[in-house]
Amino acid sequence: MTEKTTMILIVDDTPANLQLLESILKEKGYEVRGAINGPMALKAARLQPPDLVMLDINMPEMNGFEVCRALKEDPALASIPVIFVSAAVETADKLRAFDEGGVDYVTKPFQAQEVLARVETHLELSRVRGALQRQNAELARTLEHLTRAQVHLVQSEKMAALGLLTAGVAHELNNPLNFIAASVQGLKKTVAPIDELMALCQALPGGICDEVIGRIETWCRENELGELRESMNELVNNACYGANRAAEIVSSLRIFSRMDEADRKSVNLHECLDAALLLLNGSYKDRIRIERHYDDLPPWLCQPGRLNQVFMNLLANAVDAIMAQPEKVDATIRVSTRMEERDGRCCAVVEVADSGVGMTDEVRKHLFEPFFTTKEVGKGVGLGLSISHGIVRDHQGVIEVESRAGQGSAFRVILPQLET
Ligand SMILES: Nc1ncnc2c1ncn2[C@@H]1O[C@H](COP(=O)(O)OP(=O)(O)OP(=O)(O)O)[C@@H](O)[C@H]1O
Ligand SMILES: [Mg+2]
Repeated sequence: MTEKTTMILIVDDTPANLQLLESILKEKGYEVRGAINGPMALKAARLQPPDLVMLDINMPEMNGFEVCRALKEDPALASIPVIFVSAAVETADKLRAFDEGGVDYVTKPFQAQEVLARVETHLELSRVRGALQRQNAELARTLEHLTRAQVHLVQSEKMAALGLLTAGVAHELNNPLNFIAASVQGLKKTVAPIDELMALCQALPGGICDEVIGRIETWCRENELGELRESMNELVNNACYGANRAAEIVSSLRIFSRMDEADRKSVNLHECLDAALLLLNGSYKDRIRIERHYDDLPPWLCQPGRLNQVFMNLLANAVDAIMAQPEKVDATIRVSTRMEERDGRCCAVVEVADSGVGMTDEVRKHLFEPFFTTKEVGKGVGLGLSISHGIVRDHQGVIEVESRAGQGSAFRVILPQLET
């Protein structure tokens, strides 16, 4: 195969050799340039890099090996294939030619056909190598993009979890705090007359007993003592309930805030599920009944922070699937756990089943793809399940899905027991 635009540089100090090669190559349609010594050849190559160099070895001033070395040391010229052409037939010479970076060796006197065959082969190889290098560069660029996208995804993973978490916590803490605030306000009103009574009691030992006793009697007439005590107790109880609830939420948060822990740890998976349910409570409270069916599970070795995100994503999806059917009564999320043997490995199975909208086969096909969502803009990003899939895979596990459109869905997380 010949190409008009292919340029070959011939370097030989014997004009007759130069002309012979030139005519063979020109006849085949190659553009040919000649140089009668090394320095000239390097100058010509730098001025306009050729596609291939045919290089004599024995030349005065600078021999072929030195010219080849100089070409290979120049990054702009290093990839140009060099074919040595020489009468020297010692094996050592041939070996040195390859050592210096030559791709082939033609012995003088040569056959025109042989020279052309070798030239064409090396031009083709060079073209293929160039194409491969370009593809490699393209692949390297793609890999860099992917790495950047992955970093972005990890960031999104944290942000998505953080978003769910912040909303849940704000909602949940608001309730008990309102309880405490209201109780304390009530207590303040109740405490005012009691404060008055205590002041009277303080005055008793002073001697003017009759007057003080009279005022205490008036106080008792004006204040319903029984009612006061009852309301005081109730308010104190309410404040305590609020405080305990707030403490529970903070403790769930502690379980959840293992978020950044990459380390493996043995944890109680039920605690993780309860924490996620509690933090999501605000989004379903009055609408959905939660059924828990927890089996006996031993402490499970996992990356708790990341697994919490899986549970949170599955539960949040279950809540969304139910909320998408506001008219449907008897909405339930069933959270269950059990031990199972899969492929000879002992596994913990965590199942989140909802009575929500379910999904079509088409949705199921794309479920775990990043950014696949059927939710309206602002409601879903489409990352929850793809992130969860990655996390469960990192735990050597799988997520199984069963769903019937209009009936509900069940997501099963299978977590094999990991070696310590
Ligand atoms: N329990 C479920 N019931 C019905 N459809 C579901 C359920 N879980 C997931 N899906 C479907 O799978 C899609 C992808 O879920 P995924 O959790 O990955 O993203 P998302 O919930 O839409 O957004 P994000 O979780 O990022 O906020 C959902 O949009 C929904 O169509
Ligand atoms: Mg989701």
